[in-house]
Amino acid sequence: MSMRMRKKRNFDARMQACGDLLLAHGANGILNMKEAAENYRALIDFRAAFGNDLPVVLEIGCGKGGFVIALAKKEPSVNYLALEKMSNVILTPMEAVKKEGVENIRFLNIRAECLPCYIPEGSLDAIYLNFSTPLPKLGYATQRLTHRNFLEMYKKLLKKGGRILQKTDDRDFFDFSLEEYRACGFALENVTYDLHENGNPDWNIVTEYEQKWVERGLPIHRLEAVYLG
Ligand SMILES: C[S@@+](CC[C@H](N)C(=O)[O-])C[C@H]1O[C@@H](n2cnc3c(N)ncnc32)[C@H](O)[C@@H]1O
Repeated sequence: MSMRMRKKRNFDARMQACGDLLLAHGANGILNMKEAAENYRALIDFRAAFGNDLPVVLEIGCGKGGFVIALAKKEPSVNYLALEKMSNVILTPMEAVKKEGVENIRFLNIRAECLPCYIPEGSLDAIYLNFSTPLPKLGYATQRLTHRNFLEMYKKLLKKGGRILQKTDDRDFFDFSLEEYRACGFALENVTYDLHENGNPDWNIVTEYEQKWVERGLPIHRLEAVYLG
């Protein structure tokens, strides 16, 4: 844990108090594929985890969780999985979910790379990528969450007709993502370079990062990529 990111007070006890919401986690919340394979038990049984057979939607990199919590309240007939690699960060939405009694959210404290160890193939209705870390293209392209290696993985996890919904303020990352979706055979829909052009659309839930960029007057880019199967 870096100096910048000091552990929250009573961190371990507080994580434990939310333990029933956590479907997967690693030491320090950072799992690589080797650790994931070593900790492997079985793919998550959604019926056991949520207590029903409602559709399951994943958010990758939920951060403080304002988006997924608002969405889960708005759509009670959908189950949400909120994934975040930083344990110190994921504690915030977990405690909010506990406090507010939101019933249709569970958490994964893992790196996105490890998803195939946890999520059954063909099981997700949608994946949200909100303001994923853009990372410079040069040298880091393979770590971008929309690099084709990730898209091929998402294709396995999504149901046929399932979609990825992405928002970012980073134009270079957005254009890179568009190319990657096309290369992987996704159909692109509702592509916009300025989501807030006429004010925030009434259906759009603004994330923590989005709020910051909108206040600074930066345009928000958004797309939907449909997995045709
Ligand atoms: C820029 S923040 C955006 C947070 C939130 N979605 C929002 O819009 O306010 C990106 C988040 O994704 C997480 N993240 C980045 N790469 C990740 C990965 N490979 N696996 C899981 N989480 C990741 C970071 O820890 C961070 O919390």
